[in-house]
Amino acid sequence: MLLRKNMILMVLFVIFGGSYSKIAPDYIVPCPGLKPDCLKKNIQETLPHFVKGIPSLGIESLDPLYEERVELELPGGLKIEFTQGVITGLRKCIVESAKYDGLEATLVFNCNILLKGKYKANGRVLIFQINGDGDAKIRSHNITLKAKVKFEDRTHDGVIYREIKEYKVSYKHNDRVTFDMTNLFKGNPELGQTVLAFLNENWDKVIEEFGKPVIDRVVQSTLNIIKKFFRAIPRDELYSP
Ligand SMILES: *[C@@H]1O[C@H](CO)[C@@H](O)[C@H](O)[C@H]1NC(C)=O
Repeated sequence: MLLRKNMILMVLFVIFGGSYSKIAPDYIVPCPGLKPDCLKKNIQETLPHFVKGIPSLGIESLDPLYEERVELELPGGLKIEFTQGVITGLRKCIVESAKYDGLEATLVFNCNILLKGKYKANGRVLIFQINGDGDAKIRSHNITLKAKVKFEDRTHDGVIYREIKEYKVSYKHNDRVTFDMTNLFKGNPELGQTVLAFLNENWDKVIEEFGKPVIDRVVQSTLNIIKKFFRAIPRDELYSP
């Protein structure tokens, strides 16, 4: 009789334990009461792990972030095609502040971002008509990113997930952005160098005109990956009351 009871307990334990196994990686440690100081410290410590993605859950890497191919039609009719894009730097962002209130989080990061890839571009940039095809490297040091993220609870198969409903990211360049592009004018390297120097001197005007669509695209790719994280990991593993 006693033996049977133990058996039943054991079976129950296995079933219970099996169905409640944790999905979140071990580096995820919820902040009790979601206090800003804890969140800031926690997000900072989690970042280098988090950016690697979680392949078993289909969550891709954020650093490096890969963009196979991006085509943009920018103001003034400039057409740009980026391929083999690799964006690095997110793992070293400094968390300046983190706040969670109701279902809304506000995070401020300070980052150095490097974007590398192949580009093809055709059209006007400031005063130049370019026709380029080469390597591109764009470096943005000391960029402040402020993200406001709204969440909503959704239930799938009886499990509650706190998913990203909408987000808004604003940014500010505290330092100059540098461009390094080869072959801005097909077959005329001297002119290419001259124009490149001009773009670097006038980086703020270049960013004012073309920065937003490029950054929006990177933000969108980043958030699409982060959304998968919140869709895959139950709310109770991310939040503690
Ligand atoms: C970033 O920019 C801010 C504002 O200009 C400045 O106070 C800070 O020292 C800069 N940080 C770095 C690492 O350059």
